[in-house]
Amino acid sequence: MIKQQLARFNRLELLGNPTALEKLERLSAWLGRDVYVKRDDTTPLALGGNKLRKLEYLAADALATGADTLVTAGAIQSNHVRQTAALAAKLGLGCVALLENPIGTSDSNYLANGNRLLLDLFDAKVELVDNLDSADDQLHALAERLRSNGKKPYLVPIGGSNALGALGYVRAGLELAGQIEDTGLKFAAVVLASGSAGTHSGLALALSEVLPELPVVGVTVSRSDEAQRPKVQGLAERTAELLGVSLPASFKVELWDEYFAPRYGEPNAGTLAAIKLVASHEGLLLDPVYTGKAMAGLLDGIGRNRFDDGPIIFLHTGGAPALFAYANTFA
Ligand SMILES: Cc1ncc(COP(=O)(O)O)c(C=O)c1O
Repeated sequence: MIKQQLARFNRLELLGNPTALEKLERLSAWLGRDVYVKRDDTTPLALGGNKLRKLEYLAADALATGADTLVTAGAIQSNHVRQTAALAAKLGLGCVALLENPIGTSDSNYLANGNRLLLDLFDAKVELVDNLDSADDQLHALAERLRSNGKKPYLVPIGGSNALGALGYVRAGLELAGQIEDTGLKFAAVVLASGSAGTHSGLALALSEVLPELPVVGVTVSRSDEAQRPKVQGLAERTAELLGVSLPASFKVELWDEYFAPRYGEPNAGTLAAIKLVASHEGLLLDPVYTGKAMAGLLDGIGRNRFDDGPIIFLHTGGAPALFAYANTFA
């Protein structure tokens, strides 16, 4: 049902082949528990990451409306802004981004290296703001300014997380379900980072229809369970509505909020240890803001028996370019 409905939406075909689902052999041996990774860090644009899936739908909409500029917002080290700016360059569109410094740092690596360095290469225009507390209003005001200068802006919300963007992860959920079926295994859970929620909402919506018994665990990167839950639930409802389907009865929001402290954009000791463990056992790069925290949750979840029996899937949503911005954190 969801699959047929999804096919009605316009999508730029940017991804190519499905991203791989692969076993982390040495990490699994070390843990005594099989862990697989879904490699959305390898999507084929500008160092990869989850946002390209959302942008396949959002940028198709932008082109359909005749836009000439993508407008978005995020942290100075936002992976979302990097991927949006890269896609704008690829499509011959302009890109203007509002950027905030969520950790109030003056570290020059954070301010100029990593994702931020790449924005200049893509010719994105950047405006620094004190905060993004009213991001939608701020984006609308920016769009209005651009319109008065003769531009045709298209607003991409923070993280690409509206219902249209979340379709990218509905599609990813169907793709992953097919790969799971091919393994013949019964997995205990899929674990992912839950931030602006489009990834979590879209994936959980699709999987609740096609693999209703598979738990989807969102490890929060910035909020308590109480604050994140309505975001994931609300976006899943709006995405189902956009698709013209009801939320499946088995749809469930599962959140682990013990791993994001002290706050968004600031790694803790568990985050850094998870990054180091996975890099040193697998040559696989996680990031200090999202996937390092999600992996710390997965590892602790194994240690505390929070999963049912069976192998676990980690959705790797990308983010490694931010490692260079946090060089001093690892020193
Ligand atoms: C590397 C990475 N992982 C996970 C996420 C979280 O995805 P979402 O914002 O859809 O919850 C992001 C979002 O910016 C990200 O950049």
